[in-house]
Amino acid sequence: MLTVGEAIRQRRSIRSFRPDPVPEEYILEMLEAARLAPSGGNSQPWRFLVVTDTEEKKKLRQVAVDQEFVETAPVVFICAADMKAYSRRAMTRRFQEFVDFGILETLSGDFADPEYRKQYESRVANIDQATLVQMAVANTYIAIEHLVLTATALGLGSCWVGAVDQGEVRNFFNLPENVIIVALVPVGYPTKVPPLRPRVAMDEILLRPVGAVARA
Ligand SMILES: Cc1cc2nc3c(=O)[nH]c(=O)nc-3n(C[C@H](O)[C@H](O)[C@H](O)COP(=O)(O)O)c2cc1C
Repeated sequence: MLTVGEAIRQRRSIRSFRPDPVPEEYILEMLEAARLAPSGGNSQPWRFLVVTDTEEKKKLRQVAVDQEFVETAPVVFICAADMKAYSRRAMTRRFQEFVDFGILETLSGDFADPEYRKQYESRVANIDQATLVQMAVANTYIAIEHLVLTATALGLGSCWVGAVDQGEVRNFFNLPENVIIVALVPVGYPTKVPPLRPRVAMDEILLRPVGAVARA
């Protein structure tokens, strides 16, 4: 298996796969990497559906603006976020875990104080739906990238697919309204690995030069 640094450098979006199946232990390894991702308040909203069935993949291609590689990949991960992860019940459970595991210091607030916790919980309960969806998607993106990098580390190719009709996926797979489809990730052995796609230069991503303050 590659190191994280190697996987980051070697990962490419792969859109052409050999027909060889992906071993189940590799699928489980990718899901485990996703499961271990960090999330705000340890909310862990990510959910996955593993698709290998030919008819199901054909449908996914259709609802992903007919992108052929969605159908020809041996396995497609439907990556979703469950808004129930932000229900009062789920959040209370998460806070209780922080208490039970004795890891209150990982939270930025006095969660040992029941009054503080009560106020915090009602603040969370009042967050509007659009903000909650944004939080759910952001957290799920982290888990998906864990999955994608693990695919690379295992010698597999993958590609994020964001162009997908959420409602169609939800209907076809009979998923409830609280499940938001975030992306598809087709995975398989690449037919070829292309060179690195262009990236903006380092100085373009820096809002000020590294070490600018230390030098001043
Ligand atoms: C959120 C997201 C959505 C994407 N959606 C698609 C997509 O629908 N179809 C596709 O072919 N590539 C998609 N991509 C892949 C990007 O085009 C690709 O990452 C980018 O061009 C850089 O290439 P690289 O991944 O090979 O470095 C998506 C990537 C991300 C992160």
